[in-house]
Amino acid sequence: MSHLGVSFYVISVFILGVSDKVLTAVIQTQQTVLAAVGEDADLSCQLLETKDVLQVTWQKISHDVETNVATYSKYFGQRVNDGFNDKVEFKYTGLQNCSIVIRNVMEQDEGCYHCLFNTYPEGSFTGRTCLQIYELHEPVVDVRESNSTEEWVVSCSATGRPAPTVTLSVSQQDLSFSQYNTVSVSNTNATFTVTTTAVLSGSRNNSTQVGCAARVLSAPHREVMVTIPDDDDGDDGSDKKSGSNQRNLGIRISVILSSVVLVLCVAALIFVGLYEKEIS
Ligand SMILES: *[C@@H]1O[C@H](CO)[C@@H](O)[C@H](O)[C@H]1NC(C)=O
Ligand SMILES: *[C@@H]1O[C@H](CO)[C@@H](O)[C@H](O)[C@H]1NC(C)=O
Ligand SMILES: *[C@@H]1O[C@H](CO)[C@@H](O)[C@H](O)[C@H]1NC(C)=O
Ligand SMILES: *[C@@H]1O[C@H](CO)[C@@H](O)[C@H](O)[C@H]1NC(C)=O
Ligand SMILES: *[C@@H]1O[C@H](CO)[C@@H](O)[C@H](O)[C@H]1NC(C)=O
Repeated sequence: MSHLGVSFYVISVFILGVSDKVLTAVIQTQQTVLAAVGEDADLSCQLLETKDVLQVTWQKISHDVETNVATYSKYFGQRVNDGFNDKVEFKYTGLQNCSIVIRNVMEQDEGCYHCLFNTYPEGSFTGRTCLQIYELHEPVVDVRESNSTEEWVVSCSATGRPAPTVTLSVSQQDLSFSQYNTVSVSNTNATFTVTTTAVLSGSRNNSTQVGCAARVLSAPHREVMVTIPDDDDGDDGSDKKSGSNQRNLGIRISVILSSVVLVLCVAALIFVGLYEKEIS
């Protein structure tokens, strides 16, 4: 399971009618397999009634067109069709129970897949499983002190496909968020960057943490926690920089002043020397 990109399974039992004759058989498969971009996805089908299966066929359905992806039969063994060679591998082969792995899933692998158990003499029994691809990056949280005391402006951004939901939380119960504002921006690669900003108010203690969770579909969420910067040091967050800038400025001014004073002193000494020479 660990090397698989499959993050979520819905196991369901399908009763499907197939072709002209309505064949019903129980196939156990996942209704939806969710996988993150770049991960591997595992699709499996199991024919729960014992039948005389000649071949198991995996098909990809796109725009209502079925393309054969791979087949397994007792006589010819495993066969992955052209165009899917680097993409698909059998994981488990059996005539009642068959699974494939789709490697390094991309947006274009999204869609529904059929597994067909071709039996004699009844015909084929079909199971359907759909692969859904998502993308979710770790959220980025920013906590800024607002100009009133005991108030912070918290903002959190998360990028994903489809658009993620972003939820803020705080570890201390007597603190609360208000003035929520959420903005969603669509990126060129079909992902969305969602930014939620809110004002946190109340009297916090020095271990209070702010959390931000990003969620997409039913994939595992991604969460980040940050400690609210300290009041005493916290102010320095921005002031430190200007403080050091001021210090730099001060150093520069004193260097310039002392150079000027030095030049004036040297000039005065030379002048006094010349003057004394003139007098004598
Ligand atoms: C079917 O395959 C799955 C793994 O894909 C395995 O866990 C299960 O035990 C198999 N069932 C049978 C009846 O072989
Ligand atoms: C914070 O300062 C801005 C201007 O710098 C002002 O518009 C705003 O009303 C202030 N907010 C509070 C809560 O004092
Ligand atoms: C800080 O807040 C947390 C959560 O409310 C609480 O468990 C903890 O005791 C508090 N610590 C102090 C020093 O007040
Ligand atoms: C899509 O775009 C976002 C924002 O530009 C970027 O963070 C993300 O990594 C991109 N995803 C891929 C798969 O390139
Ligand atoms: C955190 O709070 C406790 C009591 O509220 C205090 O004793 C401690 O010095 C504080 N720590 C910091 C780093 O401010």
